[in-house]
Amino acid sequence: MKNKINDIKNKAIEEIKKAKTFTEVETLRVKYSGRKSELTNVLRGLKDLSSEEKKEIGELSNMTKQTIDSELAKKELEIKNEELNNIDEKERIDITYPGEKSEKGHLHPLTKVRYDIEEIFKSMGFLVVEDREVEDEFHNFDAMNMPKNHPARDMQDTFWLKNGCVPRTHTSSVQARFMEKNKPPFKIISLGRVYRNENSDATHESNFHQVEGLIAAKSGDVTVANAKSIISEFMKGLFGEETKIRLRPSYFPFVEPGFEFDASCPYCKGEGCRICKKCGWIELGGAGMVNQNVFEKVRFTEDEFEGFAFGFGIERLAMIKYGIDDIRLFHAGDLRFLEQF
Ligand code: PHE
Repeated sequence: MKNKINDIKNKAIEEIKKAKTFTEVETLRVKYSGRKSELTNVLRGLKDLSSEEKKEIGELSNMTKQTIDSELAKKELEIKNEELNNIDEKERIDITYPGEKSEKGHLHPLTKVRYDIEEIFKSMGFLVVEDREVEDEFHNFDAMNMPKNHPARDMQDTFWLKNGCVPRTHTSSVQARFMEKNKPPFKIISLGRVYRNENSDATHESNFHQVEGLIAAKSGDVTVANAKSIISEFMKGLFGEETKIRLRPSYFPFVEPGFEFDASCPYCKGEGCRICKKCGWIELGGAGMVNQNVFEKVRFTEDEFEGFAFGFGIERLAMIKYGIDDIRLFHAGDLRFLEQF
């Protein structure tokens, strides 16, 4: 019996040594230390022994069980440590390793130009104001000296809403809105979306953005010369110090006299290139002394005030600034285009 017990012990120790996983250790525990273990089986024969032998075998089997249990515990700890080491290896964090860069969004090119414009005008003391995109006929047309049936309305292809309102065709409507509540002197710009009922092509979209500017003061305090210098400062800020501007006589119902103005081409500096279609100048917007009818429409008396207004397309400015040749790119949502800014 002693031999049997020693055999069991040696076998157990050997098998436990070879175990690699917790499940293997568990199986061995059942096999060598549980209630139905080989050792228990052997001890069944104890009843046939003398009390002398019983004592001896009893002690031996107790010690054997203890040895087996401590071997099992040792093994378990070993496996645990090894697993921890492996985790260490697998999940180790190297804090000196360069991190993965997360992609950052950025401003849309039109927003950038819009912010540039705002900054330049703010630096000249202008207030930035906003107003509604859906306008009534009065503020979009009548207050701008474009009464019903006036041919000037045909200059702006209009989307009409069922209720008689319009998605504003220009930001000039903000002039009327602002003057209803504020008396000159003031200098404002207003930027925002405008809508025209026309087909889109490389230079036209039915939805685009404009900047409107209005300087108004007591009669005699605002001149075309003031306005020209402000527009000139603006163009220099946006396109560079060497930019020149010129005014050409033109007609807009809400100004008298009216102008269109051009900037010297920032690419060829006036020499003539692809961007300016070889003429050295780029047409940018309209401007003029506020027509007295506009002041009267918004409650002021004739000749009480004088003002100068101007308007540009923001897309057009952005196209020139960045050398973009198709206005449709701005709203196409193509990342290959947007990521260039
Ligand atoms: N509102 C005009 C347009 O959309 C531009 C403009 C604004 C012209 C102010 C003169 C003065 O075409």
